[in-house]
Amino acid sequence: MNEQRASQATSHQSFSETGEWSRRRLLGFVGRGGAAAGVLGSGAWGHWGELRLPELMGTSVPPEVWEERKTARSAGAILLDSNENPFGMCGGARDALIEAAEEANRYPGEYQSKLRRRIADYHGVPVDQVATGSGSTDILRQAAGAWVRSDRSLVQARPTFEALGFYSRARGFDAVGIPVDATGRHDLEAMRAVIGDDTKLVYVCNPGNPTGTLMSQSALDSFIEDLPSHVIVLVDEAYHHYVDDPTYVSSLAHIEKGRNVLVARTFSKVYGMAGLRAGYAIGPAPLIEELRVQRLQNNINAIAGACAVASLNDEKYHLSQRTLNADARKILTDGLDARGFAYWESQTNFVMIMLGRDVRPTISAFRERGVYVGRPFPDVPTNLRVSIGTVDQMKRFVEEFDEVMGMAS
Ligand SMILES: Cc1ncc(COP(=O)(O)O)c(C=O)c1O
Repeated sequence: MNEQRASQATSHQSFSETGEWSRRRLLGFVGRGGAAAGVLGSGAWGHWGELRLPELMGTSVPPEVWEERKTARSAGAILLDSNENPFGMCGGARDALIEAAEEANRYPGEYQSKLRRRIADYHGVPVDQVATGSGSTDILRQAAGAWVRSDRSLVQARPTFEALGFYSRARGFDAVGIPVDATGRHDLEAMRAVIGDDTKLVYVCNPGNPTGTLMSQSALDSFIEDLPSHVIVLVDEAYHHYVDDPTYVSSLAHIEKGRNVLVARTFSKVYGMAGLRAGYAIGPAPLIEELRVQRLQNNINAIAGACAVASLNDEKYHLSQRTLNADARKILTDGLDARGFAYWESQTNFVMIMLGRDVRPTISAFRERGVYVGRPFPDVPTNLRVSIGTVDQMKRFVEEFDEVMGMAS
């Protein structure tokens, strides 16, 4: 069923790429004047420039930019910018969505409670070890609310997924940011060196975003084991399901050993539910209680709850997604290898490429060709983050890469 949906999605994509894709149509749209062209056609690279909280959280992106994306997509543009699953949800989740829609006039307590219980069963922990969030971004928001009290409270890598740092800043506090090492991995030694009495929370993103890299298991284990007992480690495993390194073990194992560790997971990636918003954290019950104090009432809506439960009931689906992702990622990395471009070794559904030049004009050039790629990351301004789509989309990306980088013969 799931494989079937995946292949349907693939063939739909290739149809639209070969049959309906029209660069002229897209360029016509972008060049037509009007608001979207104003934002995009200036030769600049759009709305990500200022990297302020509202933009990153999607609340202040002008409506015409969303409109432009939608129009560009129907003209055949592909979205390789937000690390989404190109195939969507499993069949069971699609059915659950329709059923739950019938209950949209009711508050979602039942769905929320069912999901919390299902997550607990899935991980073999009691319910009081599970917190839910409206996406795992919401778990990060709850963590900032629970534990960030000063500029020294939070230690994290640079670059990393920004939400926790932004929510800390929204509370008036900066994070201590430690640059990643040359391989794109958290520099755990340097992070350990800045952890002190005031440190409350250490954010570890494994695999990392935007780096895509997986940490050495033994280095991460020793890092966690060596931390003072007043420090909480929040391990963000948003990309857990994509990892195929056999040495990898989820940090859930540390929770079983009684350590102050929280693991955050999301339904937005392998389960294909980014638009529905559901995520969760597992941890020791007292920490989960502190997180839950910060939660919004009903942070899981009926549809998200129903789809998330159905997703957890379909183990086969995420395994098939990992394979599809790895195959498509290989198209990209083979293409980069052949062209002599370096990239960080990815265990995720995206790859960070070292362009060796300011990424912003490149992002614009791709967009003008109907390929939406990742935004700039100020800590690595010459790197380009490309999300993994279908095999056909990655072939298209490689072709466009030659054009954009001036390598086409
Ligand atoms: C590392 C990481 N954590 C958390 C999230 C947030 O996911 P969501 O809020 O959609 O669950 C993302 C999204 O891209 C991410 O990359």
